[in-house]
Amino acid sequence: MSDLKDLYRLIELPKITDSRGNLSFIEENEHVPFEIKRVYYTYDIPSGAERGGHAHKKLYQFLIAIGGSFDVILDSGKERETVFLNNPNVGLLIKPGIWREINNFSAGSVVLVLASDVYDEDDYIRNYDNFKKYKL
Ligand code: TYD
Repeated sequence: MSDLKDLYRLIELPKITDSRGNLSFIEENEHVPFEIKRVYYTYDIPSGAERGGHAHKKLYQFLIAIGGSFDVILDSGKERETVFLNNPNVGLLIKPGIWREINNFSAGSVVLVLASDVYDEDDYIRNYDNFKKYKL
């Protein structure tokens, strides 16, 4: 089984600062190690909500706290860690085969997700016991 540390990575993005504010950008296969096939975002998240609660078989994802902050709980089936995202120029790369839960959203937080493929429900494992079996 892969170590949890091999399954995720924080990536610092370019940040161009001038008197008008900051600008960051992301290019496929440059700042993220995949072709970006889909972008989605979650917003208007009520306090106390939990999102995620699934793993992917093949999908790579890159999460950014475009606004606000939240915790991402990462679980390899063996180890569990929490990564706090609150910086629009730092993204979290999540490789396939990792269970994730997202919670502790601040008011007004926005989660931007870049994904390596289009939406495919067959790529999801939405039950933790099934995830544990999948990882055996
Ligand atoms: P869900 O996987 O529960 O979101 P999260 O991982 O943020 O908790 O997805 C919520 C609904 O949106 C679910 O019915 C599937 C649908 N959906 C799409 O249709 N396309 C997408 O790209 C995504 C991410 C979800």
